[in-house]
Amino acid sequence: MLTLYTTTDGSKTLLNTALNETYHSRNGSIAESLHVFLQAGLYDWLAYHPDFQDTIKILEIGFGTGLNALLTLQSALQKNLFIYYQTLETYPLTYEHVKPLQYAEQIDSHLEPYFQAMHQAEWNKAVPISDNFVLEKRKIALQTYQSQAIFDIVYFDAFAPNIQPEMWEIEQIKRTTDAMRQGAFWVTYSAKGQLRRDLKALGLAIEKLPGALGKREMTRARKL
Ligand SMILES: C[S@@+](CC[C@H](N)C(=O)[O-])C[C@H]1O[C@@H](n2cnc3c(N)ncnc32)[C@H](O)[C@@H]1O
Repeated sequence: MLTLYTTTDGSKTLLNTALNETYHSRNGSIAESLHVFLQAGLYDWLAYHPDFQDTIKILEIGFGTGLNALLTLQSALQKNLFIYYQTLETYPLTYEHVKPLQYAEQIDSHLEPYFQAMHQAEWNKAVPISDNFVLEKRKIALQTYQSQAIFDIVYFDAFAPNIQPEMWEIEQIKRTTDAMRQGAFWVTYSAKGQLRRDLKALGLAIEKLPGALGKREMTRARKL
């Protein structure tokens, strides 16, 4: 059901052949993650909160290959940030699935042991992956998720709305926005009008940003 897919820029992703859906943009997996989740999410959030000294709490919907988590850990190491990263997943992949993607090799080969540790970390438990990065992978569907924590940034990285529409219903989006502190960022690659109307109805301010790799727009929302 899963095959390796080489994107236009040469980086790899996985293709779910049953859904005919890739885990990242077919134009570039690493570049998309950097643009949507790191730049428009973590880096811009840091620019808005220059004096923040506490642990940054990130919630991800869809752990998948762990690419967003790996790039976030890399930033934590480089910028000496403390990050608690909670991520939801219903179909966990193994390290054997993701190793051929060669993400650490392409980003920075020193990251490979961390990438392995992320995939081998126990589920439903907060596990330190480095001195300043704690990962809690939760094997749970968004549809039954109720957060115990309050997050600074949400990476909403579900499969596309036309492939898995149930993930993008307002009831499910609300589960993530209810878990955000004031001023927190919510980012996704999708630019759907209904999503933006729903985020607005949930009390967030919407920003339209240029999308990754030639995609016209993406969405960022800020909790008011
Ligand atoms: C676009 S992929 C995520 C890509 C990932 N963030 C990465 O960096 O590789 C979407 C993920 O959502 C997961 N998923 C599907 N249904 C879900 C659900 N109901 N709740 C949580 N995750 C779900 C899929 O298994 C898949 O791994």
